[in-house]
Amino acid sequence: MGESLNGLKRSIMCGNLKENHVGNEFTVMGWVQRKRNLGALVFVDLRDTTGLLQVVFGEEINVEAFNKAELLKSEYCVAITGELVLRESPNNNLPTGKVELLGKSIKILSESETPAILIKENLDTDESIRLKYRYLDLRRPDMQRIFKIRHKVSKVVRDFLDEENFLELETPMLTKSTPEGARDYLVPSRNYPSMFYALPQSPQLFKQLLMVSGFDKYFQIAKCFRDEDLRANRQPEFTQIDLEMSFVDTEDVISMNEKLLQRVFKEVGNIDISLPIKRMPYKEAMDRYGSDKPDTRFDLEIVDISQVVKDTEFAAFKGAIENGGSVRGIKVPGQAGMGRKQVDKLTDFVKKYKAKGLAWIAYKEDEIKSPILKFLKEEEVTGILSSFEAEKGDLILIVADTNKVVYQSLGALRIDVAKKLDLIDNSRFDFLWVTEFPLVSYNEEEDRYQAEHHPFTMPFEEDLQYLETDPGRVRSNTYDIVLNGEELGGGSIRIHDTQLQERMFKVLGFTEESAWERFGFLLDAFKFGPPPHGGLAYGLDRMVMFLAGTENIKDVIAFPKNQNAFCPLTEAPNVVDEKQLTELGVKIIKENKE
Ligand code: AMO
Ligand code: AMP
Repeated sequence: MGESLNGLKRSIMCGNLKENHVGNEFTVMGWVQRKRNLGALVFVDLRDTTGLLQVVFGEEINVEAFNKAELLKSEYCVAITGELVLRESPNNNLPTGKVELLGKSIKILSESETPAILIKENLDTDESIRLKYRYLDLRRPDMQRIFKIRHKVSKVVRDFLDEENFLELETPMLTKSTPEGARDYLVPSRNYPSMFYALPQSPQLFKQLLMVSGFDKYFQIAKCFRDEDLRANRQPEFTQIDLEMSFVDTEDVISMNEKLLQRVFKEVGNIDISLPIKRMPYKEAMDRYGSDKPDTRFDLEIVDISQVVKDTEFAAFKGAIENGGSVRGIKVPGQAGMGRKQVDKLTDFVKKYKAKGLAWIAYKEDEIKSPILKFLKEEEVTGILSSFEAEKGDLILIVADTNKVVYQSLGALRIDVAKKLDLIDNSRFDFLWVTEFPLVSYNEEEDRYQAEHHPFTMPFEEDLQYLETDPGRVRSNTYDIVLNGEELGGGSIRIHDTQLQERMFKVLGFTEESAWERFGFLLDAFKFGPPPHGGLAYGLDRMVMFLAGTENIKDVIAFPKNQNAFCPLTEAPNVVDEKQLTELGVKIIKENKE
């Protein structure tokens, strides 16, 4: 049984004790990191959120405290009072290593079983165990550090936006299911059996309504829910820094957000961002990097050689061009000598992205080696080499396919090659605005256009003429902020006109009726003088990942789900009582797994 504090007060945190405190008495409280029993002395490393402090117990210091200290085990929670003295043999690896506390009295506030995981930095224990005992995992100093960073990001964001006259407002968690975007998490309604709320995928529509309400500038650190396949940087439940502004254009939103980013990265990570941040239209990003979130820390840019090989006899190239695709590649400097096995691995890699093959040309010192040499005319080979500005020693890797496959495979290949050859400078923070996304893209499976960002994005004025006739050609007033090849945030100027919004729904395949059924509240609101408005949302978790230097989103969420959207700690989702289901009018249909 644990002792109670009984009025005892903590007088200082462990990590704050320094030489200038020597000679005074302190009470510290925390957990036993380690106990060493050296006969006449017991040494205890006491841990709280600020760090470790060595405490010494001895018969000569205090017998009662010494006897109690002998009972301590790892992770016991204790309060210790004693005098701070200089250590005879300082520990320079510990910030408090020059001092130690002579334990005069100790209270065992609670005992601990042997913890399932070690409380130490850089633990490589299995993730499922870490998540099951997350409260212990979070005791580890590296995890404590990450959540202090997370706190600081939120605080700096709040302070900055407050100074800029943004108002923090909350929007509902129980809301209406709207199509487009990811799959919704649904919540059955008791009051309306057979009906459902949806958890919000983002506060998008509400923040637009708040602009109609005249709040001028809004922000929220908002929980969002998306039932989608999880990845290293995706969780079903995540947090956005969501903001919206009235009477603005793209420039206004971008410049406000550049100031925000500069402030957060400087204050939290001491990282300098020089403004303005580079910008690149979507098309250029795709052509040069094969991605709408290019990693610009290294070159290996994509080159289009379709023109050079347009009359080729080589079936793979010819076929791709004839089918409206293209032939493109990357040049890997100095890698003409790359072994056959390695090249085969790269070929297997691009095949994961549906490429049919990977053609290569090695520009060696005394010869040109390539499996496709026999299919190409001499001027085609020299044309290819000069398109890449290739020099002796370079290796060229080429994919011919539909543009989609070419972009995806080469976009991924350049990153794979850069990682393998260690071409990425990890100390860099390369920010980039990607702008002018297409308004819609064609979904072949569903045979319809879908919004590239969301259905409320403002089309480019000069492209409006193609909205009905050639929607794929219309650009939009969008801007994504990309950092080192990851999408940190994205936003747009919104449509604020009912008629244009209705046209947009039509392009997306909604009948007038279905659009009104789903989004009628927005279309109604737009009848009452909506201001021009636009905004953006960051993935807060992703921002913290960069500032904490981790590639795993679970590290920055206190209680994350695992890769199968399951919580090993609480074991959610779980079966509920029959009574609850009856109240909700929900019946479980057992899936026949045979
Ligand atoms: P978007 O869908 O691009 O935009 O989301 C904004 C940012 O949220 C982060 N994000 C995620 N982070 C972790 N796990 C996820 N599953 C996840 N999904 C998205 C990304 C992304 O850039 N309403 C619009 C914003 C706007 O137009 O203002 C929106 O939600 O970092
Ligand atoms: P093949 O004639 O199919 O044996 O192909 C000869 C070479 O061209 C091999 O190195 C293939 O990997 C490569 N290749 C085949 N199809 C394509 C393609 N669509 N794009 C690029 N290279 C290809």
